[in-house]
Amino acid sequence: MNDSTAEKRALPIGIFDSGLGGLTALKEIRRVLPGEDLIYFGDTGRVPYGTRSRQTIIRYARQDVRFLLSQNIKCIVAACGTVSATALEVLREEFSLPILGVIDPAVKKAVAVTKNGRVGVIATPSTIHSHAYADRIALLAPAMQVTECACPLFVPLVENGFFGADDPVPELVAQRYLEPIRQAGADTLILGCTHYPLLKEIIARVLPGVQLIDTGVEVAHSLQA
Ligand code: DGL
Repeated sequence: MNDSTAEKRALPIGIFDSGLGGLTALKEIRRVLPGEDLIYFGDTGRVPYGTRSRQTIIRYARQDVRFLLSQNIKCIVAACGTVSATALEVLREEFSLPILGVIDPAVKKAVAVTKNGRVGVIATPSTIHSHAYADRIALLAPAMQVTECACPLFVPLVENGFFGADDPVPELVAQRYLEPIRQAGADTLILGCTHYPLLKEIIARVLPGVQLIDTGVEVAHSLQA
């Protein structure tokens, strides 16, 4: 290993999200890459991103990346479905370091594990409006039936601490939001926002037997690869 490769390996990986959701990805990255230093930025002053315009999300994401660059990192994980869906291409054009998003790894996994070819996607309103997950699924597996649902209350619930497995408040909201997924008979559900794994137990109770795809887990494997 030459000096500059060794130096690069020693630099941290930057991870960001609008708030605490990206910590679900950080936890997985720490598990699969225990030797790496990680720097996390959660933009809790401006969360949520997922109800904002594309222009605003791009502006915020650009600022998040600039902050992480000031910390001398070697690559970035956009641990945010909303940023990955709306701003990733722009960020990759503007910045020269590698930037990973959460959409492709989650889609690959969902397409690989579904048995009945019916995949659900839940995410923030801006991610759902972008159809980023559905478009990627269509590219990889055109015959898949995709049902997309925006869950705008999930992020504020999580950010305000309403994610306990026995909390009836998020469970009631989940029952309402997830009904179209249940009716579509999806056997696989992409948790398309990194806040949603914090509601995993509740979602699993509302949709028993449905395989839940955690974007944080999938992006961690992709980063490792
Ligand atoms: N964790 C972000 C995502 O994955 C949350 C978006 C938000 O702030 O609304 O989409």
